[in-house]
Amino acid sequence: MKRFILMLLFGSLLLASCKGRQEGTTVGLVLPTEWKDISGEYINAHGGGILSYEGKYYWFGEHRPDKGFVTEVGVNCYSSENLCDWKYEGVALSVSSEPGSEIEKGCIMERPKVVYNAKTGKFVMWFHLELKGQGYAAARAGVAISDTPTGPYRFLHSGRVNPGIYPENMTQEEREAKLDTAQYQKWWTPEWRKAVECGLFVHRDLAGGQMSRDMTLYVDDDGKAYHIYSSEENLTLQIAELTDDYQKHSGRYIRLFPGGHNEAPAIFKREGVYWMICSGCTGWAPNEARLFSAPSIWGPWKQHPTPFVGEGADRTFGGQSTYVLALPGNRLLFMGDLWKPESLMYSGYLWLPISFGEEGLPIISGPRS
Ligand code: GAL
Repeated sequence: MKRFILMLLFGSLLLASCKGRQEGTTVGLVLPTEWKDISGEYINAHGGGILSYEGKYYWFGEHRPDKGFVTEVGVNCYSSENLCDWKYEGVALSVSSEPGSEIEKGCIMERPKVVYNAKTGKFVMWFHLELKGQGYAAARAGVAISDTPTGPYRFLHSGRVNPGIYPENMTQEEREAKLDTAQYQKWWTPEWRKAVECGLFVHRDLAGGQMSRDMTLYVDDDGKAYHIYSSEENLTLQIAELTDDYQKHSGRYIRLFPGGHNEAPAIFKREGVYWMICSGCTGWAPNEARLFSAPSIWGPWKQHPTPFVGEGADRTFGGQSTYVLALPGNRLLFMGDLWKPESLMYSGYLWLPISFGEEGLPIISGPRS
């Protein structure tokens, strides 16, 4: 394992397979499911992402219980200097024991991502939040901040995205259409699809704000940050610019691929091109990943075939995207989850290097053992 990660970092032969120090796990290019931290405990950091700050990596992810799926603990944090030996730093953001709190124990916190804001000196965490007892109906984004990377993070607020504001790329005609969901009760009909494309759910949610479920954050070279999330009943991705302190939405946002049913977004930039890897919407079950690119974060975005190649590529090797980490030397690491719905705590991790083919498209080859 260590050799694999060090190869990723320092760039010698990527394809060598290596056995983990952890007994019984053959890792090849896929990290062991049930991966352990340096104290021998399973790493419990699902749907997460990595912050690189002052020579250290900080991995934030969902703490998941052995049984069930609601959040009993919060967002976990681990630190490492080599991406291989992870030290448990504790719970970065805790659920609250206060009844009625937006983050009350029993809520659902998913897909946490942390970025550093140089202007305020704060670490800012965004995550998908579902309120206790409401299943996945709330579809909110939550924000928490800290003065140190490991936390504890202080919960600030949660909510839907940009209430009262239309997406920038919705045409005047679409804005005036004033579509009403009551007229489109039956899903997946051609009329319904057309209405979704025209912003059926944008209209429905305009006053209260757009839904926000699976999500990631992206900080661009100019310091602007973006929240990228599955919206409109998971049918449409949206990208929303954040305010300069990264703690709110600025009001500027766009819709991507209306009705495309994309989730689990992971974004990166290479040589001026923005790339995004997503999954389809099949819950915990793996599906074929999707790939998009654009010359600007604001688009135009276009779709490409899945970047995954080899046996099992049509199911993303059993995984689902969560983050792409930029490593020194222009290297890129794809991070995914190998969900185990019967015991989410023991869901595994799929970390694979991203290479680029002759046509300039990203390629992610299958794990080897
Ligand atoms: C997946 C999603 C996960 C989680 C799960 C719940 O589609 O990517 O983050 O929300 O559904 O069923």
